Amino acid sequence: MTDNELMKKAKEAAAFSYAPYSHFCVGAALLTKDGKIYTGCNVENASYGATNCAERTAIFKAVSEGHRQFDKIAVAAKDGSTAYPCGICLQVMNEFMPEGEILLEKNQQLVSCHLKDLLPSGFTL
Ligand code: THU
Repeated sequence: MTDNELMKKAKEAAAFSYAPYSHFCVGAALLTKDGKIYTGCNVENASYGATNCAERTAIFKAVSEGHRQFDKIAVAAKDGSTAYPCGICLQVMNEFMPEGEILLEKNQQLVSCHLKDLLPSGFTL
């Protein structure tokens, strides 16, 4: 699976986004250490705080099916803008992919960054 293919899966997942409040549709595609792909989208709620981001949807799907180690996650906004993961998603990534890579889109170009750069001092127990 190339980075471009993973990003394509993230974009496809954005089509399932449920975002009637923000209208900001996001998709994510997560690559497990053993080569499986889990996708996710953001799922909003009338009680806004109950919203789940695309990244966490993908991660929770994977964890709930027995995967706990991830290499990479691609994140795509349907409108082509750059969707940096929020602080809660970064903290969840820190749990399962502390050395992981995050793929984003900037001006229609694939950009790679590392969780350590976006969350240099993530909380751990
Ligand atoms: N959102 C994501 O799903 N992932 C991100 O990386 C940024 C934000 C969602 C949450 C909410 O449904 C909408 O985008 C606006 O914040």
